[in-house]
Amino acid sequence: SIPVILDVDTGVDDALALLFAVKHPGIDIRAVTCVAGNASLAQVVENTLRVLDAAGAPPIPVAAGAVRPLLAPARSASHVHGENGLGGIELPATSRVPEEVGAVELMRRTLMGSTERITIVALAPQTNLALLLRTHPEVVDRIERIVFMGGSAGVGNATAVAEFNVWHDPEAASIVLGSGVPIFMYGLDVFTQVSVPQDAASALAAGNDPLGRVVGSLLGNRIARSDDETLVYTGLIGDAGAVCALVDPDALVIEKLPVRVELSGYARGQTIVDRRRYSGEDRLHGGIGEWTVMDVALDVDAPRYADLFLKTLGLAG
Ligand code: BDR
Ligand code: CA
Repeated sequence: SIPVILDVDTGVDDALALLFAVKHPGIDIRAVTCVAGNASLAQVVENTLRVLDAAGAPPIPVAAGAVRPLLAPARSASHVHGENGLGGIELPATSRVPEEVGAVELMRRTLMGSTERITIVALAPQTNLALLLRTHPEVVDRIERIVFMGGSAGVGNATAVAEFNVWHDPEAASIVLGSGVPIFMYGLDVFTQVSVPQDAASALAAGNDPLGRVVGSLLGNRIARSDDETLVYTGLIGDAGAVCALVDPDALVIEKLPVRVELSGYARGQTIVDRRRYSGEDRLHGGIGEWTVMDVALDVDAPRYADLFLKTLGLAG
């Protein structure tokens, strides 16, 4: 199975991703690190521990990381994920506790102590990863690749062009994407496609299976903005799709493309994905700046991932 470190800001759909990763036999979770993003760091840690309990996970080390982005101000995402980060869903308290060491040290130990290279799955702003790579550059060779949920080759969500995780800490994303570690981008282009049908989610939420009730309520979480936005997000498996990408990459259309992170102006936090098939004026005249060629997921067989998600959790009809 694939050894992974999950970096999360749990978060409604980070919870779905954790549940899926715990239950999938092809994934071996070596550590989970937490970062402020969808909720405050303390809330993210508490949510993560409770979700691992709800999943019936074996003991897995969990550590707290950055309390806020490198340069950007701390900003609340409670309008999307609710005050507790889980859309108001209350999971039972847990006796699990976080490690005494922080996220950067837990990642370093896990990477350096493993005989196999480890894949990092980043489902949150990349503050912890940027700090790790700047503090311990020796880990680069121990990372198989970084699979990150974030960015977009098209429209944004936090702004018209920027996706939330990159927008929340653009400097961190810029450091991570330019670190030399192979990168796989699971951006909004695919993230917004994979959802469980509303009737299936409602049936789970109302059913008798305890895990099904949790998953159904998380999937049924609505964003309290406009009706249209509710339609876009309800039922999304979200971050869990990036974990599906680890075990079923063939359901994706993936291209190797140059990507850069914008750091200023309105476009701050945008990932520009160069989909031209030729050298434009910028390349002809030099000064193309900081681009990193990476695998970018551009399309997905969405029903296949929705099925994989439900089947892995033992919840398929
Ligand atoms: C990303 O931001 C958060 O809202 C989700 O958990 C996901 O990681 C989507 O932009
Ligand atoms: Ca997330």
